[in-house]
Amino acid sequence: MLAAETKVGNSQTGLASDPARSWKKIVEPVEPFLHAVTLRLTRQARDFDPQIVPYAEHALNNGGKHLRPTLVALAAGCFGQPNESHVTAAVIIEMIHLATLVHDDVMDEAQIRRGSPTVAAKWGNEIAVLFGDCLFAQALKLASEFPTTEICRAVSLATNTVCSGEILQTQQRRNFSAARQDYFRVIEMKTGELFTLSCDLAAFLSEAKPAQRAALREFGAAVGTAYQIYDDCVDLFGTEAEAGKSLGTDLAKGKLTWPVLLAWERATATDRAALENLIAKWHSENFAAVKALLLKYETFAPSVGEIERHLETARRALRVLPASPGQAGLLQLTDFIAQQTAILTVQ
Ligand code: IPE
Ligand code: IPE
Ligand code: MG
Ligand code: MG
Repeated sequence: MLAAETKVGNSQTGLASDPARSWKKIVEPVEPFLHAVTLRLTRQARDFDPQIVPYAEHALNNGGKHLRPTLVALAAGCFGQPNESHVTAAVIIEMIHLATLVHDDVMDEAQIRRGSPTVAAKWGNEIAVLFGDCLFAQALKLASEFPTTEICRAVSLATNTVCSGEILQTQQRRNFSAARQDYFRVIEMKTGELFTLSCDLAAFLSEAKPAQRAALREFGAAVGTAYQIYDDCVDLFGTEAEAGKSLGTDLAKGKLTWPVLLAWERATATDRAALENLIAKWHSENFAAVKALLLKYETFAPSVGEIERHLETARRALRVLPASPGQAGLLQLTDFIAQQTAILTVQ
């Protein structure tokens, strides 16, 4: 059986207690920035129509790691102190991220997000779809308030890419060969893109040199890709208590993630057919049989290797940046993801 090491975690952030300490080390230097982001998100919730406010408060005041705002702060910290415009950029990106989660939870029929019921579980799919749209619109309105159109354009393009990535993945459900071919493209689109945007807008607002901005974009894409592979491993090998969200939804929805694709590639013809069949005729009781195949074909170690490969690309990109608290924090973030991955144990 495969399972995650059980430690007392924080279901709102989805972090186990030991790594939570190292997460604290990363965010401590940017705490005032993150506090300002949280306050602005709370204020944003009140900006919606009174009848929408309960949904907005539920989604916007409900914790989360604020990974993307942290990236904005750390990337800005490569060039000095982040300012108010960085806070606004972080709020915009977090709202876009939340909108994609609200919609993702509808598609995945997920019940729990950040340790609480999803918007869809609490108010139904119709409200969740429409409220997700409201969040996108509110984020774009904020982006349009910058004196330059550059921010709104970048946010719009990135949002399009994220949603296109989700569509590609949906088109490829249960299609092993298509999913294998496009796995990395899809995760770079659906997750890497907002990490890239966070780093990119921070660099732009800090007036970074073109080579530094490009390096930060490369960093964001690589870390985002590593993070999604890690998250895909959590969906298979993690625990809901630690993750603070519904797990197992990838298999249930036919989303073919890296460990599953690896098992399929390595399997004998008989096991390959069995795997395809288990996923095609999905039932929650099939989970154990799929996990047994993941274990038989030793898919966890190479998945960790793939995460590490992308983290190494990210670390290399940082060399172009000035030695600074921001650069050190970004480096620590790559180690943190590696550390979180190491907590997932195969039993
Ligand atoms: C969840 O993102 C969706 C993925 C891209 C894997 P996070 O893990 O950043 O979720 P929150 O914001 O902390 O809830
Ligand atoms: C990430 O995919 C969702 C988006 C990028 C919108 P997942 O479906 O793996 O995210 P979780 O696991 O539900 O947070
Ligand atoms: Mg999901
Ligand atoms: Mg997931």
